[in-house]
Amino acid sequence: MDWQLSGKTALVTGAAAGIGRAIALHLVEADARVYGADLAWAEGSVLPGLSPLVLDVTDRDAVRTIVQQIVEEAGGLDVLVNNAGTMRARDSFFDYDADDWRRILDVNASGLFFCLQAAAGAMAERGGGAIVNVASIAGRNGRTLSPPYAASKAAVINITRSSAATLASSGIRVNAVAPGIIDTDFNRRLGAQFGPRDGLTPEEYVARRAEMVPLGRIGTPDDVARVVCFLASPAAGYVTGQTLNVDGGIVMN
Ligand code: NAI
Repeated sequence: MDWQLSGKTALVTGAAAGIGRAIALHLVEADARVYGADLAWAEGSVLPGLSPLVLDVTDRDAVRTIVQQIVEEAGGLDVLVNNAGTMRARDSFFDYDADDWRRILDVNASGLFFCLQAAAGAMAERGGGAIVNVASIAGRNGRTLSPPYAASKAAVINITRSSAATLASSGIRVNAVAPGIIDTDFNRRLGAQFGPRDGLTPEEYVARRAEMVPLGRIGTPDDVARVVCFLASPAAGYVTGQTLNVDGGIVMN
């Protein structure tokens, strides 16, 4: 089984924390040359073997410049993992304002598309590549604390299909993962926000969410990273346009 990415260059967005950091680590272990892009890098947070870049994925010009920089430095780009994402949850459906809507859609859908567009241009010149988008089960079933977030992730699943269809003839595969409840700051922030409402500590709130997972536990960043690396690798060479749930069985379709 060929999971190795020796001689390949990869870019991971949102790589400074959580799932993105785990993905970057697995790609380094698969022997890829890995660039990580994020809004900022805390001191000491950069993984060995990773080239850190500062990028807001919503800035289309900056995205294009960074992809160009990688192509010049590394000779090309073979793998893009579109992981950067944001979430805002309000107490009530009626509390979401225009800024909430725009920022969530800007980062999770528009920014993802800008990265995909720029990377696909570079990959096409090299004869192909693999793109993996990070969606969410919220984008499948709409069951979420945040309607704009669910809408943005439904967009990711759709962008995955439309770009896979368009880019197949250029040798570029486009797939996605849809994580369920993963143990990162993302969920700890939700626990801190909504736990007290239900009389729970943030940890108890996250633990209660685990009760809905058939496999009996919430996921780890590594659980997601392994599936992303499979989809990015030659082992998934005949897979495109798919969104794979990585959720312990919460959603079964
Ligand atoms: P996180 O909040 O721990 O990390 C997200 C990273 O993305 C951060 O380092 C952040 O700085 C970066 N980022 C945010 N906006 C950015 C921008 N405009 N440009 C560049 N970087 C930006 O979140 P986590 O949990 O690691 O999530 C990663 C992805 O997985 C996101 O797309 C999220 O929506 C998705 N996801 C997470 C789930 C979970 O339970 N943790 C469940 C389903 C999906």
